[in-house]
Amino acid sequence: MTPPKNVITLVDKLRKDIGEHDYRYYVLAEPTISDAQYNRMMRELIELEARYPELMSPDSPTQRVSGEPTKEFPTVLHEVPMLSLSNAYNDDEVRDFDRRVRSFLPRQPFRYVCELKFDGVAIRLQYRDGILNIGATRGDGTYGDEITSNLKTIRSIPLRLQTSERNLQNIEVRGEVYMEKKDFERLNKERERTGEKPFANPRNATAGTLKLQDPKIVSRRPLRFSAFYLRSESTELASHYENLSILRTIKIPVNEHLRLCETIDDALAYWQEWSMRREDLPYEIDGVVIKVDSLRQRSILGAIAKSPRWATALKFSARQAETKLMGIRLQVGRIGTVTPVADLEPVSLGGTIVSRATLHNADYIGSLDIRVNDRVIVEKGGDVIPKISAVVKEKRSPGTKPFRMPSKCPECGSKLYRPKGEANYFCENSQCPAQIKGRIEHFASRGAMDIEGLGGAVIEQLLEERIVKNYGDLYDLKEHAERLASLERWGEKSVENLLRSIEMSKKQPFHRLLYAIGIRHVGSGIAQLFARHFRSIEELRSASVEDLVHTEGIGPEIAESVVRFLSDKKNLEILGRLRKTGLMLAAKATREKAPLAGKTFVLTGALTRFTREEAKRLIEEQGGSVVSSVSSRTDFVIVGEEAGSKRDKAKKMGIRVLDENQFLELLDKP
Ligand code: IVH
Repeated sequence: MTPPKNVITLVDKLRKDIGEHDYRYYVLAEPTISDAQYNRMMRELIELEARYPELMSPDSPTQRVSGEPTKEFPTVLHEVPMLSLSNAYNDDEVRDFDRRVRSFLPRQPFRYVCELKFDGVAIRLQYRDGILNIGATRGDGTYGDEITSNLKTIRSIPLRLQTSERNLQNIEVRGEVYMEKKDFERLNKERERTGEKPFANPRNATAGTLKLQDPKIVSRRPLRFSAFYLRSESTELASHYENLSILRTIKIPVNEHLRLCETIDDALAYWQEWSMRREDLPYEIDGVVIKVDSLRQRSILGAIAKSPRWATALKFSARQAETKLMGIRLQVGRIGTVTPVADLEPVSLGGTIVSRATLHNADYIGSLDIRVNDRVIVEKGGDVIPKISAVVKEKRSPGTKPFRMPSKCPECGSKLYRPKGEANYFCENSQCPAQIKGRIEHFASRGAMDIEGLGGAVIEQLLEERIVKNYGDLYDLKEHAERLASLERWGEKSVENLLRSIEMSKKQPFHRLLYAIGIRHVGSGIAQLFARHFRSIEELRSASVEDLVHTEGIGPEIAESVVRFLSDKKNLEILGRLRKTGLMLAAKATREKAPLAGKTFVLTGALTRFTREEAKRLIEEQGGSVVSSVSSRTDFVIVGEEAGSKRDKAKKMGIRVLDENQFLELLDKP
């Protein structure tokens, strides 16, 4: 049915109005209608679009959450590379920057624009005919990930530009996606409640969210956007400052605190001012940015390596405060790592009250000679966990004693063990109450036994109710089904689901189990190596440290850790139970068919989880082959850190590029 004219007009008006109200709400924070009125408009639009599907359009506000989950983000080329900024940490470095700028612009007047440096994630938006058609991450500056569906969920990013100006229909906008502090805290609380790992800081939360494959989840995360760059395809723009005001007129959010500075002293004052005022902002900034305003002058200045000569970041120093060290406590982590933690007299730092700080390890305490009752300097860098960076020795009171590492675990009393050459002490008792939850969590996790529905909150409940005491008990859970079903948040159905996933986990191959049982230093790559050389737990157990170090890729630390784990009586007892329940304590005799038969691989970049030789052998064992250069006959390119041209070439040619984790997953497939 062709839509009547008045419907077309109405749909168009609703879209414009909703766009306007999004802007008022999400950018100006000054809504002019109630939520109910807004929802009514949205519902009306949804109904009309359902009735007249031909009116559907990707820039409709109903399409903020549209794309289906993707397996992998496509790669896009940035026509104009996305550079990063050089940094300056003190006045001298800022003045050096200014001198260099002036040497490139002799006898020319110029001015700077100063902006806040958001601590978020840089992105690029491309509008075609006024409609948002591509959104991408910075990636390596030349190629980024296309994450349009995720960026469309951010309400402060307009899907359609609010302007009829011809020159502004085809533009590129760059800026920062970020999360406000209060939203970040709320998100983390929620994650803790559901047993998910909290994010370390708002930037990590933002980056993690933008990487999600499902826009539906992204849309529920409170991301925001602030622009700092405009490029138009049809007109030459002259001034950055003017560009930012153009962006504002077309309702793209631009930060309100930017300032035009005629001299470097003005810029230094701006930096100083914001280093004092940063706590008052609702979002995190890690410095300010100073940029030459004129785009013509910018092109004279050009760039060196990956950063322009016309801009630099003036970073803030870490937030510091002085306080008293009340005590040193030992904390026992998931795999028994014992870390000393400082109990502090509460002190305000970076807008929060700090009463604990990490002390890393005994050596760190020794090297700074940190003593209980000392006045100490606490520091907060990019992460949420503060650390002690110095002792104010002049204020040390008489009678304090150097710190001595206790010899016993504070949780279970077992003797602490410090492996040769390592900085940390460990509690090796796998039944230590401090470790039980973490160990079960690891056992059930994705790369391990992959038990769906067994997250942190559930494990805590099972422990509290004393239904389980270790991961071996999971396989007896069916005996407690009735009791479990009667507990809060449980019902027959959910118990049934959990039991089914536990049952399914019995089929996980030997190397997964070897990883899941939580032997220190045995990650999933090493577990696979072991599973190839030692076909069962018995074989592994009968090997000595010497035997183990003769296995390619196994060093003395790993070997020693395995031998210790497998000679512990309690561990063996649990392994015995796992065997009885039918778990794979041995590798399958043969593989039916080499799973990578005929596939060609290229390895590039620095691999971190195994050596090139190991990776090659793993591939060859499964029937694949490794060659040195990328061609149309290549099936996969495995990239490590700092992979360069081979990765780019593969992406251009549409060849599958896998990082080390994805590679392991590929090997994992039966
Ligand atoms: S300008 C070449 N302006 O800082 C100029 N960047 O190290 C590139 N950032 O990737 C960007 N606030 O993620 C610019 N007001 C601002 C910024 C800003 C934050 C980030 C951005 C960029 C990184 C550069």
